[in-house]
Amino acid sequence: MKIGKLKTKDVKKTSSILEGIFSSMNKVFPKHAVSVFIYKNSESEILRLMQRNNRLYLVAKEDDKPIGVAHGYYYGGVFYLLWLGVKEEFRNSGVGSKLLKEMEKRVRKRCHKIQLISAIDLGALRFYKRNGYQCEGVLRKAWWSVDYYNLGKIL
Ligand SMILES: CC(C)(COP(=O)(O)OP(=O)(O)OC[C@H]1O[C@@H](n2cnc3c(N)ncnc32)[C@H](O)[C@@H]1OP(=O)(O)O)[C@@H](O)C(=O)NCCC(=O)NCCS
Repeated sequence: MKIGKLKTKDVKKTSSILEGIFSSMNKVFPKHAVSVFIYKNSESEILRLMQRNNRLYLVAKEDDKPIGVAHGYYYGGVFYLLWLGVKEEFRNSGVGSKLLKEMEKRVRKRCHKIQLISAIDLGALRFYKRNGYQCEGVLRKAWWSVDYYNLGKIL
């Protein structure tokens, strides 16, 4: 498994991995929210956003095929992680943790902290805690009326 910056040739496949992940989140988010996530991570949107120098897209690849992705942006010395996702059949073997570690390594020069929010019902709290993230509070009935953990890690 290799992790590197997203390349244009892998955008289509990466977008379809994210679409698969979002489509399986319909128990946590309402249908219209899932449509927004899919649109925001469509091939054309990723191609547009990856040109910006405040964005970072990392992709984990197995046999040269994308299996996981981490995406976020820099602002005010904080890297805000927007999405972290691993294809279902590759989960629980360390891919997500390796993506997080690589992201932390790459943003360290520009950032003192990583911040993210994760819907409570996605059940990823243990995963983030194991990776050194601390819960800094709960956002009740925020976007789409969903509850979230506010998670952070000082680098
Ligand atoms: C959350 C997510 C990114 C984790 O990815 P992952 O590749 O499964 O992560 P890891 O394999 O590093 O860790 C998952 C678990 O596997 C265990 N694990 C890690 N390496 C392992 C290995 N070599 N063998 C067996 N188990 C292992 C970890 O201990 C961890 O357990 P935990 O949940 O109790 O912490 C993934 O589940 C996902 O894509 N979920 C859907 C999207 C989502 O919810 N994203 C987070 C909100 S933004």
